[in-house]
Amino acid sequence: MDHQEILDFAIHLAHRGGAIIRDAFNGQGLSVDAVAKQGNPSDLVTEVDQHVERTVRALIAERYPAHRILGEEDGMADGQTTGWTLANDRHVPTWIVDPIDGTTNFAQRFPFTAISIAVSDAEGNLCVGVVYNPILNELYSARVDGGAWLNQTTRLPFPHGPEAAARAPRSLGECLIGFEHGSDRSPAVLDSRLASHRRLLARSAGDNGEGQVHGAQVRGVRCIGAGSLDMCLVARGAYDMYWEIGSHLWDIAAGTVILREAGGAMLSGCGLYGRPEINTAKELVTEAAFDPLGRKYLAVRGAADHPALDPGSGKAAMISLARELLTHLEDIEVTQDGVSDA
Ligand code: IPD
Repeated sequence: MDHQEILDFAIHLAHRGGAIIRDAFNGQGLSVDAVAKQGNPSDLVTEVDQHVERTVRALIAERYPAHRILGEEDGMADGQTTGWTLANDRHVPTWIVDPIDGTTNFAQRFPFTAISIAVSDAEGNLCVGVVYNPILNELYSARVDGGAWLNQTTRLPFPHGPEAAARAPRSLGECLIGFEHGSDRSPAVLDSRLASHRRLLARSAGDNGEGQVHGAQVRGVRCIGAGSLDMCLVARGAYDMYWEIGSHLWDIAAGTVILREAGGAMLSGCGLYGRPEINTAKELVTEAAFDPLGRKYLAVRGAADHPALDPGSGKAAMISLARELLTHLEDIEVTQDGVSDA
């Protein structure tokens, strides 16, 4: 598979879909009116999501008729909504399309919304990713071994090189964290997320007036409402990490390629808080343990190597910080993508 050719086509698709999104956002095309998916008012869909997905699917099918397509709105093109994996018996690449990530933002005309397109090879390895915010005209793209780019001209992370290295955080107190509350508002899940959010912000030790608290005391937490853009903000180096449980492959697939090419890492976002049985299992928080279909995601930005240490020491230091972050976050049970109807 020619990764560059696939990337060029994915960028073309992102511009085609992006133009439809931008027109609707500006009141010149389809309606931004949203309806609840499966009765959940926190999970929205618009006619624009559906139209963009159909348009992109048709263009991919015309150019690469043998390839598989997985889209947020219509699932697998062959109708298979359960039992799929990225690696497949047909030994063909899979396109993973989120026509509008951040649909709530789009419906509100809040300008953080994007089309996200990724491709995995026949073995299931994510190899191409494009995330395009057509409102702010920011296009993030990457292919394996080709670096990660903003608008195809600015190398990520930004700034690139020694300046970025100097900005690498040394403690959680220096970290800005992307955090999303997702669409599951059931009481137990909401309580758990809010507790994690609170623990991220709480002082690292001592009494805050309400009893003894041991929080992460991170520098700040942001919820922008679009997982694909959260991933790109980590790739940029604007966020130090992004954590979410409950999002889907199509929210993070393109961002995973972009982040990795920017020197960052994707880890399982399995919360470790209050779970002594797994708290010491370091192998859970490694790049090798990351499962793109697992719906538990922790994106970690790259960091430059320490001059006196081995190559990879910068990333290793970030992964160790990520592990520390997870000890403040609660785990939430979710069903894997591909196992049940998403
Ligand atoms: C959602 C957004 C949101 C995240 C959810 C996603 P959608 O995607 O990325 O920020 O919290 O988990 O499902 O539904 O707008 O494409």
